[in-house]
Amino acid sequence: MPGIRITVADGPDGFDRAAADEIGSTIRACPRAAVVVATGRTPMGPYARLADDLSADATGDLRVFQLDEYLGIPRSDPRSLASWTRRSFVEPLGIEPASVHWFDAMADDPDAECRRYEGAVAEAGGFDLAVLGLGPNGHLGFNEPPSDPMSGTRVVPLTEESLASNAAYVPGEPVPTEAFTAGLDLLLATRRVVLVVSGRTKHEIVHRALDGPVTAQVPASFLQEHPDLAVVVDADAWGA
Ligand code: GLP
Repeated sequence: MPGIRITVADGPDGFDRAAADEIGSTIRACPRAAVVVATGRTPMGPYARLADDLSADATGDLRVFQLDEYLGIPRSDPRSLASWTRRSFVEPLGIEPASVHWFDAMADDPDAECRRYEGAVAEAGGFDLAVLGLGPNGHLGFNEPPSDPMSGTRVVPLTEESLASNAAYVPGEPVPTEAFTAGLDLLLATRRVVLVVSGRTKHEIVHRALDGPVTAQVPASFLQEHPDLAVVVDADAWGA
């Protein structure tokens, strides 16, 4: 797999350290990077470590894009992925609020909102860095299976597997059923991708994604063809 570097990290500290190093090295080398960042449980430790590592000087010029968002959930709602991105990445890293591009989850015309997002990414010169988690079904962002590599930014109905995993993020609250996602086309065109994967439940899917056939049924498998992919995986997910 040319262009792919896999780091298998031991324990949560080793995982957070390795992932923060991968993300941090790109930010240090490219302080004006256009960065798209995942929510989810996996990158939370790495983001906290990154915030400790980098001073606001190193992050003040970053341009940040939201990866995905629930349709119809306002930004102020604690369930929104915008509020999660703000709490976990934007604020701890001292990023200028004006440098963050959000989805407008309340847009009257979601398709037009997707075109607007794509326009903003194009204006930024494309993504320099994507920090992505791996969905339980192999999704990236909310590019649910099947997603072909040219899939654009769009609103997608969430699969049962995603609804089940998302329910854990918002206990006791109704789970949104549709979401905006940055297109797989934009994610695969990103100059450098850091994929973070942890936990025993990801064992099968991480190997399907990285060692299995390249297929729309496992959208993350298209990353096998990426020229600059760093995978940070913990030993629980990678297995013996
Ligand atoms: C979520 C998000 C993804 C995230 C993935 C894995 O539903 N749409 O952006 O990367 O699923 O989440 P976790 O890290 O919690 O396993």
